[in-house]
Amino acid sequence: MTRVSPTAPPAQPALLCALAGHRPSRPPVWFMRQAGRSLPEYRRVREGIAMLDACVRPDLVAEITCQPVRRHDVDAAIFFSDIMVPLKLAGVDVDIRPGIGPVLAQPPRTAADVRALTTLAPDGLGVIEDAARACIAELGDPTDPEATPLIAFAGAPFTLAAYVVEGRGTRDHLAARTLMHADPEAWDALMTWAGDLAIAFIRAQIRGGATVAQLFDSWAGSLSRADYARYCLPYSARVFSALAADGVPTIHFGTGTGPFLDLLATAGPTCVGVDYRLGLDEAIDRLRAIGRPSPLVVQGNIDPALLSCPTPVLRAHARAVVEAGMGADGHIVNLGHGVPPSTDPDCLSDLVAYIHSLRPGKD
Ligand code: CP3
Repeated sequence: MTRVSPTAPPAQPALLCALAGHRPSRPPVWFMRQAGRSLPEYRRVREGIAMLDACVRPDLVAEITCQPVRRHDVDAAIFFSDIMVPLKLAGVDVDIRPGIGPVLAQPPRTAADVRALTTLAPDGLGVIEDAARACIAELGDPTDPEATPLIAFAGAPFTLAAYVVEGRGTRDHLAARTLMHADPEAWDALMTWAGDLAIAFIRAQIRGGATVAQLFDSWAGSLSRADYARYCLPYSARVFSALAADGVPTIHFGTGTGPFLDLLATAGPTCVGVDYRLGLDEAIDRLRAIGRPSPLVVQGNIDPALLSCPTPVLRAHARAVVEAGMGADGHIVNLGHGVPPSTDPDCLSDLVAYIHSLRPGKD
């Protein structure tokens, strides 16, 4: 195995350097949901265009993806889209309603419905590839160390399956959790299909020039450890193993998954995303104990609530997060969940500049 040098990072963007387990000259930082309603320029270009329509317009996707890079000087762009887009491209009747989120017109009610659904394959991924390519035109060629990397993403199989079975976001995902126990065969078909959609969606973004991929398991926190291990982990692991074969570094993020963070690491990502409920130092200790990922790379976990605190309070918290990240081999600074739409964009720009000014471990 190659030894990881903490002192001599190769000439590459800070994000990729951290993902390789190195320490770049300044901490890389980006924010989940950095493109979106907190930006007035986003609200302007989205006016009168439905969310899922915006996601299939390459010019608009590229514009929105690059807005936070221009404004905040973040170290990565995340492809502007939604976890529901591959379902829509597969022909599922899904809409994203403002203030509610994804809503399916006809959630499957029987095992036969599930089987019919899982025969659907995404069509039109060329638009996603084109949109990623349009992002790269502004972000810079992936082989250029000065370029801003583009992060591809998809919803993890459980989060996609939960939306499909419930028909919309719910608090406890009762119907999804019932299905996994009541009909493990239908569950297996649904989760395998959701994993295939995630792989296809991410691969289209990679073909267009994305060099990192993140899997969002936003709803996994509603599961017990045992259910996650048996009914979800194998399907997410399958996605990570497909992406590892493509040679792309990966990030695995789940909300409320602190109690089984080790299982998220076991799925095989390059980097584990830590949500705001778990101390980053504790997360690092737990991952060290299982030796995964290796090198140990974490992402997180500034509490989004602190974005509305007075600057000194936010800065002290951000500094503590950066210091805690020193316990890992590589650390990508991020929030412990998405940017709240009410966030003052100037506060995010200021936070990026502050994080970039820090030399962790030194004064
Ligand atoms: O900047 C980025 O992070 C990239 C774009 C992105 C969006 N959605 C854009 C979006 C990403 C990575 C997502 C992922 C996503 N979508 C997740 C996983 C991440 C998480 O937050 O846990 C989930 C659960 C969804 C489903 C979804 N889509 C919800 C719950 C909502 C919000 C609905 C609302 O109005 O409150 C959406 C819509 C959505 N996706 C918006 C954006 C910018 C807002 C829609 C709008 O601006 O009209």
